[in-house]
Amino acid sequence: MYYPDELIEEVRMRNDIIDVASSYIKLERKGRRYFALCPFHNEKSPSFSIEPSKQLFYCFGCNKGGSVIQFIMGIENLDFLEALRFLADRAGIVLPEPDDTKEKEKSILRKQILDINKEAARFFFSALAGKDGARAQAYLIKRGLIEKTLRQFGLGFAPRGWNDLTKILSKKGVKNELLLASGLSLQTKTGELVDRFRNRIMFPIFDIRGNIIGFGGRVIDDTQPKYMNSPDTLVYNKSRELYGLNYARQSKSKRLLIVEGYMDVISLHQAGIDYAVASLGTALTQSQAWILKKYAEEVIIAYDSDSAGQAATLRGLDVLEKAGCNVRVLLIPDGKDPDDYISNNGPEKFKNLVNGAISLLDYKIRVEKNMYNLDTIDDKLKLLNSIADILAAHDNSIERELYTKNYAQEYGISLESLNNEVQKRRNRQISRQKPYSYNKNMSPGRTFLEIPQIDTRFGELEHILLVMLCNENRLFDKVSKKYGLDAYIDKSAKKIAEKLYKRLEQNKTCVFAELLNVLEPKEASYLVRVAETNSGLENTDKALQQILNKLEILKLEDMQKQTIERIKNEEDGMIRQKLGLEFSKRAERIAELKRMA
Ligand code: GTP
Ligand code: MN
Repeated sequence: MYYPDELIEEVRMRNDIIDVASSYIKLERKGRRYFALCPFHNEKSPSFSIEPSKQLFYCFGCNKGGSVIQFIMGIENLDFLEALRFLADRAGIVLPEPDDTKEKEKSILRKQILDINKEAARFFFSALAGKDGARAQAYLIKRGLIEKTLRQFGLGFAPRGWNDLTKILSKKGVKNELLLASGLSLQTKTGELVDRFRNRIMFPIFDIRGNIIGFGGRVIDDTQPKYMNSPDTLVYNKSRELYGLNYARQSKSKRLLIVEGYMDVISLHQAGIDYAVASLGTALTQSQAWILKKYAEEVIIAYDSDSAGQAATLRGLDVLEKAGCNVRVLLIPDGKDPDDYISNNGPEKFKNLVNGAISLLDYKIRVEKNMYNLDTIDDKLKLLNSIADILAAHDNSIERELYTKNYAQEYGISLESLNNEVQKRRNRQISRQKPYSYNKNMSPGRTFLEIPQIDTRFGELEHILLVMLCNENRLFDKVSKKYGLDAYIDKSAKKIAEKLYKRLEQNKTCVFAELLNVLEPKEASYLVRVAETNSGLENTDKALQQILNKLEILKLEDMQKQTIERIKNEEDGMIRQKLGLEFSKRAERIAELKRMA
């Protein structure tokens, strides 16, 4: 592919398919999905659907499906690269042009910034170990960090001088322009360069590949501001990064715990809670939420329980919900942050808090409850109205029903009247959708017309296997052992498998929509179709085993047919007998597999 995989994936992630599609068609929410009249074929009742948590569309009428990229290819009648540019523009991402010298310079500059960041981190690191860093080191040790942790997170110290780092880097030949572009130096009124970070403990910020993209610096005393962070640069965009994700994504746990600060992440990792990340002072952004969704099955949010923390939690919940994350909220007693709590109570107690984290709905309602005085009728009414608002906004209908029952009981009102209130609000939500703006005369995307040649016996099962792998990356170890690339019979499935296996080997993760980045539209469509028509499919080890068994049965049955032919044509009695033995052994295995099914 012309562009690096990560760039294509970034373009996809930064274009929410609901936002994009709703400028063409009128979407209506029904449960977890949105529905609309299909823009790719003529119809009277809506069978086009979008599942926001997966960022996929699928039409039950014409079977077209894909990610936001295939949607734009189809509706704007563009090829892949054109669609990518369209979406990059929309999200404000600059894609490099082949002969664009400006872009080339930028990518060189990016590389240079990463290099001097690394130099700077080395400098800070040795300063922490040296004479100047003695106080900083004592401070960190007093806060309970051990040597190994300091090394793991590359903590350092920026000395008190005006331009210690700037001087060193300049001497090595780093140009002023680059020092400013990296954010490490600032220019004074007289035009001189000085260090941005002075007399601070330094926290390098890593991206998931382990590059140092920026720094945070903390004072050792009570001076303000407590923290100073790198500005956004060519390599650092704070609304898109999560501190600690480079380690947390390697955790065995399938959850991510979001906390507020550097120190929280570091002490959690030291305490063995290696799935903590921080959003670094800003409220969670939608891009961060998509990233969390990509790396975790469950997201637990553990912000400070003071009121600023509570407001931040609520904002965070909304973007996480929108991204389709499974969210729980961890409540820390007495307004402590995770780091304080662990220092005072130890890791085991904190792990108990993690296990006791409450659901999103319960949390929202708890926050409401704290705002009212439930002794007055007026306040009680207000609370019940808020509860109805919260319930109505909750998409999962099963959960909504269960919670409605619970809260009706808890507050002593009839289920019927609470239900009515919730339903009223939901009806209003639906009628508030955007106006219909899709132009019926637009030609449907040419790229969707073909359907790939699928081997009907193996093809579907093998595609199901691929869908399961996308939904549940952890199954990869087992699948790659039992059904390696050589095992694939269907050509199209094999082609997809080659791409998916490579990704899972290299990156460990690949979500469904991401896999579609490297497929032909017709392959993408077929894969989404298989996923949709088998949507009852559970992604469990047991379901996986059943698919593998079915595939084995098909293969064995093919071999049986061949064996029968050979027995028919074989003149040598000994060989016939041997073949007969093989046949009955295989027949036994088939019977056994069928019993397991
Ligand atoms: P400690 O006080 O050392 O425990 O740090 P902390 O990591 O617990 O930080 P805190 O909870 O006070 O703040 C959370 C995060 O918000 C920090 O890690 C910083 O990223 C950011 N932050 C805090 N204070 C400031 C500030 O004064 N300026 C800026 N720019 N960011 C801050
Ligand atoms: Mn703290």
